Amino acid sequence: MTALLDAGERLGRGELEALQLERLRATLRHVYENVGFYRASFDKAGLRPEDCRTLSDLSRFPFTVKADLRDNYPFGMFAVPEDRVRRIHASSGTTGRPTVVGYTDRDLDTWADVVARSIRAAGGRPGHKVHVAYGYGLFTGGLGAHYGAERLGCTVVPASGGMTARQVQLIQDFRPEIIMITPSYMLTLLDEFERQGVDPRTTSLKVGIFGAEPWTEQMRGEIEERFAIDAVDIYGLSEVMGPGVAQECVETKDGLHIWEDHFYPEVVDPFTGEVLPDGEEGELVFTSLTKEAMPVIRYRTRDLTRLLPGTARAFRRMEKVTGRSDDMVILRGVNLFPTQIEEIVLRTPGVAPHFQLRLTRKGRMDALTVRAEARAGATAGEREAAALSIAAAVKDGVGVSVGVEIVDPETLERSVGKIRRIVDLREAT
Ligand code: DLL
Repeated sequence: MTALLDAGERLGRGELEALQLERLRATLRHVYENVGFYRASFDKAGLRPEDCRTLSDLSRFPFTVKADLRDNYPFGMFAVPEDRVRRIHASSGTTGRPTVVGYTDRDLDTWADVVARSIRAAGGRPGHKVHVAYGYGLFTGGLGAHYGAERLGCTVVPASGGMTARQVQLIQDFRPEIIMITPSYMLTLLDEFERQGVDPRTTSLKVGIFGAEPWTEQMRGEIEERFAIDAVDIYGLSEVMGPGVAQECVETKDGLHIWEDHFYPEVVDPFTGEVLPDGEEGELVFTSLTKEAMPVIRYRTRDLTRLLPGTARAFRRMEKVTGRSDDMVILRGVNLFPTQIEEIVLRTPGVAPHFQLRLTRKGRMDALTVRAEARAGATAGEREAAALSIAAAVKDGVGVSVGVEIVDPETLERSVGKIRRIVDLREAT
């Protein structure tokens, strides 16, 4: 087993922390000297890079938020001259300017290494074929997965997202062992396999590496059962690197090991910003330890999770992400995440794993309707029972009343990448 781990994965906790501190101090110096934004924010806080003497001293440094990246659009956060930036990615940004990130040659090398490590932790081996159905382009999913799979010595099928019928054809003809895809798009492929009359349990696929959006244990169960594969979680975000910041190991499937030799995690109280002890749920914050082109210091991800001790690796784990604070719906004072609804919909008989949350406003009151799709062949009685059961489970489990509509099979919009669960009609109503 040990032979399969790289040098970083074999570090003991003490060695790892020494390495983290050395890299952290170098990163703080690098940004202080080269990025106006960080120099100004450290100066304002009365801190110099040398003031970080232990890993816990990092908590004295200011946070960085997405708005800081937008304010410095496009290249103001870069810490190296532009001609050393070998690649640029950007996150779509549903509102306003996109968030731009850059990589030097060495950053691209590090990124390929951590994704290779992730695919190996998922069960991938040199010689495996990897079907990459994350979108290629400014999104980090496709190219991030691509270079990592090549680095591991796999054969890459760069399918990208979309053209679903062709994806199914390619999987049957090329016989990949591994697929990298969003969980919601995997469900779209499932429909297509069935439409083409192919039993999805008979494909060559053995492992699916799913990420880019939150998904639940119930979804893992559904995908593993319908495709007869192991389904593991990969996490990342463009601002920190892209996919490959953390990865679940196939042998334990117990949360994602954070590649802590490159990304230093903290979990903070989302309201006060106070650092929380391991085990407590809060907002995940990352400091990059080895990035050159665009290091980030205490970047607030808005993703909610907890830090847990290592199991299959010495690195700490993060629990599956419950959701982003931006995707949290506050309904009559109750906080609700789409993942809570996913858990309920997926365990309800008679409905397919497709749902949407529609927010409307009546007067000053927000209302939420869960739209879930009936399974093919479900009777009117079964549909009615499903609606009642979902409403009761939300009331019991989440503590709020919602409307439920069971719609006909194949009527809800299908995902080709990251799915949008919440349809906000409050402006319109
Ligand atoms: O989604 C990078 C990625 C690509 C990760 C492919 C995994 C696989 P962004 O577009 O910048 O980058 O979006 C990052 O997506 O802050 C989370 O809210 C969410 N996210 C990513 N992975 C997971 C996951 C990519 N495994 C944002 N579970 C993050 C839950 C995830 N949410």
